[in-house]
Amino acid sequence: MKVIPGPASEELGAHVAQLTGFGKVKVASRIFPDGESYVRLEGEVKNEHVAIVQTTCAPQDSRLMQLAFLVNAAKRYGAKKVTAVVPYLAYARQDKIFLSGETVSIEVVAAMLRAAGLDQLITVNVHAESALSKFPFSTKNLSAVPYLAQYFVQRGCQKAFVLAPDKGAMYIANQAKEVFGGESGYLEKHRDRYSGQTTQTGAHLNVKNQTVIIVDDIISTGGTIVGAAKILREQGATHVYAACVHGVLIDEAQKRILEAGVEEIVATDSIPSKVSKVTLAPLISQELQAQASG
Ligand code: R5P
Repeated sequence: MKVIPGPASEELGAHVAQLTGFGKVKVASRIFPDGESYVRLEGEVKNEHVAIVQTTCAPQDSRLMQLAFLVNAAKRYGAKKVTAVVPYLAYARQDKIFLSGETVSIEVVAAMLRAAGLDQLITVNVHAESALSKFPFSTKNLSAVPYLAQYFVQRGCQKAFVLAPDKGAMYIANQAKEVFGGESGYLEKHRDRYSGQTTQTGAHLNVKNQTVIIVDDIISTGGTIVGAAKILREQGATHVYAACVHGVLIDEAQKRILEAGVEEIVATDSIPSKVSKVTLAPLISQELQAQASG
């Protein structure tokens, strides 16, 4: 197997190549003055199973085009199998029609990657597993939650209370709880489909004088975490941390969360940023090594 670190995940891809010991194929890339993307493989891929590591965070559309071009280039130059490792999968949240007149965006992304020649997709904590059913080839959804939880254990947060800020994040809270061994709870969240505004309500949680870690798959505007932190403060939590797999963190999200009393924000390098303190490299490497030997 060979690893191709895409322009959006150069560091992560190189880290995966180093941990697996697989050969690395470098990519030359640039954006033309009119905004179009250009990529070129700088190594041999003939008869290889190649793993292209390319996240699709903002600017999503050009990251997706770069990925499709790399997939196609790999096939064009004789790769026998092309796997895309896409830690943050753009458009996964539009995996169904919420309002009449919309489309299923992730289905269009899947069709585009199929047309480019993709054989397999590996992603990490996709927002909803149902999004993967739209891909007409094999997919795998890895979980980074144990790695996030370990980060806090190493910082002395054993037995922390784990809070899911909505029901969708309960599976994340449960996986984290297995590492912490403490208690967990969740809040109810309602999102207005027209305005995007969310409201959260929480039953009484056993968080008085406790350290609480709010866990979610994505932090985007930070609204969900800010709302949850407010409820935790009202209920007497002493220390509040926020952890997510994908730190989208648009605009002033980070500032808003810290101002709401959250002591630290921790994310993975599915989206490289100042808060991407947990690397996905070991998780991805294990999966690729298992596939290479299996
Ligand atoms: C949605 O249900 C997700 O799991 C996250 O809770 C959501 O994307 C977070 O968005 P924001 O940070 O904008 O509240």
